[in-house]
Amino acid sequence: MNVEEMKKAVAKEALNLIEDEMVIGLGTGSTTAYFIRYLGKLIMDGELEEVYGVPTSYQARLLALEAGVPVVSLDEVDAIDIAVDGADEVDPQMNLIKGRGGALTMEKIIEYRAGMFVVLVDETKLVEWLGQKMPVPIEVIPVAWRAIAEEIEVFNATAELRMAEKKDGPVVTDNGNFILDAKFHRIDDPLDLEIELNNIPGVVENGIFADIADLVLVGTKDGVKRMER
Ligand code: 5RP
Repeated sequence: MNVEEMKKAVAKEALNLIEDEMVIGLGTGSTTAYFIRYLGKLIMDGELEEVYGVPTSYQARLLALEAGVPVVSLDEVDAIDIAVDGADEVDPQMNLIKGRGGALTMEKIIEYRAGMFVVLVDETKLVEWLGQKMPVPIEVIPVAWRAIAEEIEVFNATAELRMAEKKDGPVVTDNGNFILDAKFHRIDDPLDLEIELNNIPGVVENGIFADIADLVLVGTKDGVKRMER
């Protein structure tokens, strides 16, 4: 299996967890995009009924609408049964770095609220410790970006303002904020760093998702493997 096939395999596997009448948090990114499309097909074929998606981003919302998944917003639902999303890094304790797609704040709100949070990754995302390959995205209030970048240096890290590729200037998130990508040498205590970063005034949310995933489906060359609590 190549990486794309691994993504499809975990997305298909996640469908086994979906039942009629569920409210589902819809994650952001290329792996979850497969899940949303497959979910839409099941709904359109009449194999799932009364299922609603709560999107974590405009990307997830547009994909869901296109695929035929009925969409509701977070403030319209009493509970979220399950959330399904990708990740950029997964450590052996199932702590995550997320936010390459810039949707980390809504992702964390919805995934924290979900009865079960399922993560879909291919095996290239597995790391020995968080920060091994990827920076930690941090969503910040725009005017505070330089002050926060300086504060982050206290953690022996460097922070860069994420620049847009098809727009001049910085990336602006779905919430109207900027993203700093903070490179740490090695994150030994993800939960502690997650809390510390959120304590900096002007930080909206950061991309460390410690102790929140219930199940990680990992696409490997030999098939789908499970990491669970
Ligand atoms: C978006 C995310 C994505 O879930 C994460 O970047 C993984 O994306 P992909 O499945 O495309 O590798 O956190 O904010």
